[in-house]
Amino acid sequence: MDTRAAVLDAPGQPLVLETLSLDAPRAGEVLVRLGASGVCHSDLHVRDGHWKRPLPAVLGHEGAGLVEAVGDGVTSVESGDHVVLSWWYPCRRCRSCASGRAWACSGTRAGESLLPDGTTRLQRESGEPVRAYLAIGTFSELAVVPESAAVRVSPDVPFDVASLIGCAVTTGVGAVLNTARVPAGASVIVLGCGGVGLSVLMGARLAGAGPIVAVDRSKEKLDLARELGATQTAASSEEAHGFLGEGADFVFEAIGLPVTIEAVQGLLAPGGTGVLVGLTPQGVPVSLDAYTFVDRGLRLIGSNYGSSDPAVDFPRLAGLYLEGALPLDRLVSHRIGLDEIEEAFDAMRRGERARSVVVF
Ligand SMILES: NC(=O)c1ccc[n+]([C@@H]2O[C@H](COP(=O)([O-])OP(=O)(O)OC[C@H]3O[C@@H](n4cnc5c(N)ncnc54)[C@H](O)[C@@H]3O)[C@@H](O)[C@H]2O)c1
Ligand SMILES: [Zn+2]
Ligand SMILES: [Zn+2]
Repeated sequence: MDTRAAVLDAPGQPLVLETLSLDAPRAGEVLVRLGASGVCHSDLHVRDGHWKRPLPAVLGHEGAGLVEAVGDGVTSVESGDHVVLSWWYPCRRCRSCASGRAWACSGTRAGESLLPDGTTRLQRESGEPVRAYLAIGTFSELAVVPESAAVRVSPDVPFDVASLIGCAVTTGVGAVLNTARVPAGASVIVLGCGGVGLSVLMGARLAGAGPIVAVDRSKEKLDLARELGATQTAASSEEAHGFLGEGADFVFEAIGLPVTIEAVQGLLAPGGTGVLVGLTPQGVPVSLDAYTFVDRGLRLIGSNYGSSDPAVDFPRLAGLYLEGALPLDRLVSHRIGLDEIEEAFDAMRRGERARSVVVF
């Protein structure tokens, strides 16, 4: 079968829309017709060459859709199911998987953008194989993914909202609930109010944290942050500094710039925890004031994919949306076509749009 997909050939080049051929799902694989795919800053990092990744590849790693067919031995989903796709499909056998840390799975081949058997189902007409980014490549009408990447969720969640559970929401809400385990009443500062930072904000609100200070250089983002429960907003970390007296119990960095990562420690109250969620280009060091860090008893933790297990967290987050506890639909600011991803990247570079979502 054929699929229209947005392909990255080399770092720094624009994505090109192509028709690729897609083989049927083999044993343990699932064919998904994408309903929606969010555009995450991590796609932009790859597009701009900040991270070295195997290419050519269909980008996109934040998607949801409908199961169209399953390969032999697939038991957890069937045709007609609505699924959210995980960008780190767990092997379910390694030590991390066995201890409930699917986000740290070492048996997956997701990092190579390959299926468990080390291949891809996508090819160009010339026969050249094309990888699917993180083995899901959601900027495509169709995708063949490993069974453990396709997690069934309630069909009541619209695809545009469900797609964001695949990355931004699980990353942001998970950083609060799973990684940092923020208790009720804790004070929180969130640096960056894109799809990930706004999800951190919603998670903090859900956890009963407060006050919650949102920081972004874009006024449009701060207005949305206030509607989603930020008690105060600031245009910079310097401006946020004055708000909480002694500092915050938790500071989440959801931008990925050295300058904002380095601002985290100065915003923390004694004994406070900094949570790094934003990702810099590879190989970029940041510095901290080690004396003060120790003297004030601070903690700094990295949060990868919200310390999630997709099979547990995706249905839980979908349920919280359906109950009205997480207004995830507010993240969907722009619905776009597959041919408008470069425009979405440009807007993202300018700090605009909560989330652009490709709707198929
Ligand atoms: N840890 C993980 O597992 C994980 C998962 C997904 C994304 N990420 C990373 O999280 C980061 C955020 O992703 P996103 O999709 O929300 O990005 P985004 O581009 O949508 O949002 C970033 C926000 O930061 C703001 N900003 C930029 N520079 C600023 C500055 N100097 N001061 C204040 N605000 C500033 C922008 O206005 C924008 O609102 C990226 O680095 C992404 O790669 C990490
Ligand atoms: Zn992402
Ligand atoms: Zn594993």
